[in-house]
Amino acid sequence: MTENEGNTPALALRDLSVSVPDGQQTRILLDHVNLEVAAGELLAITGSSGSGKSTLLALAGLLRRPDSGEVTICGERTSDLGERQRTDLRRRQVSIVYQSANLVPSLTAVEQLELVGHINREKRKTARTRAESLLEELGIGDRWNQLPGRMSGGERQRVGIARALMSEPSVLLADEPVASLDPELSVQIAELLASETRSRNLATVIVTHDEVPLNYAHRHLHLEAGKLTDVGLADVR
Ligand SMILES: Nc1ncnc2c1ncn2[C@@H]1O[C@H](COP(=O)(O)OP(=O)(O)O)[C@@H](O)[C@H]1O
Ligand SMILES: [Mg+2]
Repeated sequence: MTENEGNTPALALRDLSVSVPDGQQTRILLDHVNLEVAAGELLAITGSSGSGKSTLLALAGLLRRPDSGEVTICGERTSDLGERQRTDLRRRQVSIVYQSANLVPSLTAVEQLELVGHINREKRKTARTRAESLLEELGIGDRWNQLPGRMSGGERQRVGIARALMSEPSVLLADEPVASLDPELSVQIAELLASETRSRNLATVIVTHDEVPLNYAHRHLHLEAGKLTDVGLADVR
């Protein structure tokens, strides 16, 4: 048993509040938000543009600190950690996927993944082997030597997801992962996120204004006026 099994949620937000400056005033983006995401669970969060979805993910990904409240990753509280410890914890446990995969333009697919191995001080050969098998697993094994500029949007997103999985995270955060894809590719990418969540026992959070990921989510929350509401899953599965 690791600490991540049993009852400890992989990701927990406790009483989280954030305000941002808005002209002369401040606007409350997150208002005492509580959330737990278990290993193996795929959670979708919707909300209109500007409602604070990306901010919520940045907090969960330890890229930003809340005004108050606590973010817990695999049972570890993070508010008292210094920047360096937060970075360490993020590298070990959390990966983030963005709308445009944010690949390094000058690196091939396999090199994007190898870079993660390098940052995590993995042996070069081991990193290479894992990178190749991840690209294979995500259906882009034949694109291993391709630069992002020569990939399709769907391929780039697959490389982005493969790169996110390279560090073997417990928590996978995806910010509008299908927003720039056509409907067919959106389905493929959402399916992929769902199957990886299952097979790797990830706690996955997708924030989206697209409907497609909702078909694969175990839970659907809506963010509005700083509050997260469970809206249930209408006609899913
Ligand atoms: N550090 C910040 N300073 C000022 N405004 C911010 C800051 N971070 C986010 N905002 C504002 O908060 C709102 C919500 O942003 P965001 O989380 O990106 O929303 P969403 O992803 O739902 O579109 C936006 O109006 C944005 O401009
Ligand atoms: Mg956003």
